[in-house]
Amino acid sequence: MVDVLAQRGNISPGRYVADFCAGLGGPARYLAHQYGALVTCIELNPDRAFGASDLCERVGLARSVRIVRADVARVPLLGESMDAVISQEALLHVPDKKAALAEAYRVLKPGGRLTFTDWATHVSLNDADAQSMWRGIAAQSIQSFVTYPQLLQAVGFRDVQTEDLTSEWARILEERFAMYRQLREETQRIGTPSGDSDFYRSYARLVALVQGGTLGGGRFTVQK
Ligand SMILES: C[S@@+](CC[C@H](N)C(=O)[O-])C[C@H]1O[C@@H](n2cnc3c(N)ncnc32)[C@H](O)[C@@H]1O
Repeated sequence: MVDVLAQRGNISPGRYVADFCAGLGGPARYLAHQYGALVTCIELNPDRAFGASDLCERVGLARSVRIVRADVARVPLLGESMDAVISQEALLHVPDKKAALAEAYRVLKPGGRLTFTDWATHVSLNDADAQSMWRGIAAQSIQSFVTYPQLLQAVGFRDVQTEDLTSEWARILEERFAMYRQLREETQRIGTPSGDSDFYRSYARLVALVQGGTLGGGRFTVQK
């Protein structure tokens, strides 16, 4: 998945890349190691940001990957300082997506690319499902395959390319859910408390929504 983002983002040695909602920095380290990119991670959660820094130190990538603890809706980077912005499966957690996309536009150099994957709806979620996705996967809001391109254009991006990854993600999700179900049953059998039933129900609903074609995954690539 990160190789495709690298390709869509024209990422090559010495390029400056920002990773929005970088988590523990896995994609960032991969881009630094495999592509020679100089990556700035923007990550809000202090523990994740600390973990990301620690992992970069441990694998000797601290000079090419830097971690900035910040909100992607207010990024402390200079305008026109990045060749590419990437984000992997994370913008659903951000309440003000327009602000985050506008920040990506601001920090990109002219001609630079934003490329990201995220969950997106084919059909609007009803209130009960939106609540369930909030409880299960912390989805603040989920854009649709129609509204994401509109938002991207509204903040100034052009040449929107949308790739529908729903069937690919449905397969992965099904495997992950089977693994999760098996672990849950094993822990229940040996009498260990098996965790959060709310989360389990939401996850099951997520799988059903993806398999039923309501919810899906997309990769969006645009140019400044
Ligand atoms: C699903 S993880 C994805 C991590 C990473 N992109 C990856 O593929 O490994 C989402 C991350 O987004 C971070 N996040 C959520 N809201 C954010 C925000 N407003 N600004 C920056 N990071 C945020 C979370 O703390 C979490 O680490």
